[in-house]
Amino acid sequence: MLPSRKVRWASSMTMRDFSLQRRRSLLGMVAMGAASIAVAAKPQILEIQVWKDPNCGCCNAWIEHLEKNGFSPSVIDAGNNAARARLGLPQKFASCHTGLVQGYVIEGHVPAADIRRLIKEKPDAIGIAVPGMPIGSPGMDGPDYGKQRDPYQVLLIQKNGSSKVFNSY
Ligand code: CU
Ligand code: CU
Repeated sequence: MLPSRKVRWASSMTMRDFSLQRRRSLLGMVAMGAASIAVAAKPQILEIQVWKDPNCGCCNAWIEHLEKNGFSPSVIDAGNNAARARLGLPQKFASCHTGLVQGYVIEGHVPAADIRRLIKEKPDAIGIAVPGMPIGSPGMDGPDYGKQRDPYQVLLIQKNGSSKVFNSY
């Protein structure tokens, strides 16, 4: 008598747990769906550390480009050459500012979209660079430059110091 009652009780609990579980997982799926819609609508804010040439206005214009594209830059107004050397980015890829985001070096006027792609793909590399200061790249595209647009490439800098094309504009 007693054992069979126990069994019934246990099995009815299981059914209740089951339906509770099911309701929870459905709610979970709804919440997850809402979260992914939120992510798609508003990209995640990315922290970036930037060391810049103190005498260079185009650095500020590039930093504004990052801010407009969902980055939160912390800027040090000097020491870009030292930061580049310390972070191991070869001098031949140098530009006027050096950034660091999630362990990757970002050298020069790199478009925000390429930084996001780098973070997403996470290649085994030092970082990405736009060497020099090509006109038409973000921060080098203000009214002072007129409508001039020079072709340029974003390079992926490998750990052995070589590079390959990451994107072309
Ligand atoms: Cu510059
Ligand atoms: Cu700069």
